[in-house]
Amino acid sequence: MELEPLRDGHGRLIGDVRVSVTDRCNFRCQYCMPAEGLPWLERAEILTFEEIARLVGLLAAMGVHDVRLTGGEPLVRREFPRLAAMIAAVPGVEDLSVTTNGFLLERDAEALVRAGVTRFNVSVDSLQQDRFFQLTRRDALPQVLRGLQHLATFPEAHPIKINAVAIREFTEEEVIPFAEFARRTPYEVRFIEFMPLDADHAWTPDQVLTGAEIRTAIDAVYPLEPEPREPHSTARVYRFADGLGKIGLINPVSEPFCADCNRIRLTADGRLRTCLFSLNETDLRTPMREGVADLELEEIIRTAVWRKELKHHVGEPGFIQPPRTMSAIGG
Ligand code: 5AD
Ligand code: SF4
Repeated sequence: MELEPLRDGHGRLIGDVRVSVTDRCNFRCQYCMPAEGLPWLERAEILTFEEIARLVGLLAAMGVHDVRLTGGEPLVRREFPRLAAMIAAVPGVEDLSVTTNGFLLERDAEALVRAGVTRFNVSVDSLQQDRFFQLTRRDALPQVLRGLQHLATFPEAHPIKINAVAIREFTEEEVIPFAEFARRTPYEVRFIEFMPLDADHAWTPDQVLTGAEIRTAIDAVYPLEPEPREPHSTARVYRFADGLGKIGLINPVSEPFCADCNRIRLTADGRLRTCLFSLNETDLRTPMREGVADLELEEIIRTAVWRKELKHHVGEPGFIQPPRTMSAIGG
């Protein structure tokens, strides 16, 4: 059943939902979680597979064709590939992707590809084992690289994207090694500017290593040429001028892409968020568990989306960091 397209009050059509399937994670990345973890949600607080599929189905009927499954770490949710298959089967879902830290990909890549996941983003913030440990607080680089290699054996999973958060005084020395990694592997490496979604609220603007700086540094060694920008893409993509591979720059802090944002987010506990930096969210779980009909749920969603934030205010005076960290929002 096709419904009226989902629109916000600023005229943006919503076409993409990021669904966090768990707030738990087997890593403790510095920029995302405290070392001791966070108080996890209780099992009953988390949406069931059926509840997630119902919401995705309703959204898809309103034109939300792209679904990205995230966490926390989505692969730690029990039977995650079964959920992926349920979402892939929802009428109207055209593109199903997963964001993962890669730790469990050796175990799950095959099941996820079979389920219908066609795009993977794997977070790798360092290519040096000790620095990977320092940043993620897990000595897991070899396992993540093995997971990637395994994933790469499935043609359906390509192109595989690697995400590296770009942090000043950490990432600089890896910019060229990452560029070389992108040149010698089939992976597209994408640097994401560090955003104020860290658990310790330690973010400051000067800790952001900007995309422009990274581009200049790479271009000086391996000349880059811009690729045409795809609509709603968060990344600016460059190919190496000699044709060997691509890199992407995601610059939410230095070059916000809010005007073109077509995304909404669903947290693991069933709250709808219209911006990464939203200070309020809309509870969909309670009405669902009280037995509302789809028509009413649709109205709740439309009202929340209508108020989608015009833009974020990161770096401006008076910016307030949301209480949820990235792990509890879904990247
Ligand atoms: N700033 C930028 N990116 C972040 N991620 C997690 N926390 C932050 C942050 N504070 C990234 C992860 C992953 C994606 C979901 O978001 O590394 O690639
Ligand atoms: Fe886990 Fe991803 Fe957060 Fe790292 S960034 S702690 S891998 S959820």
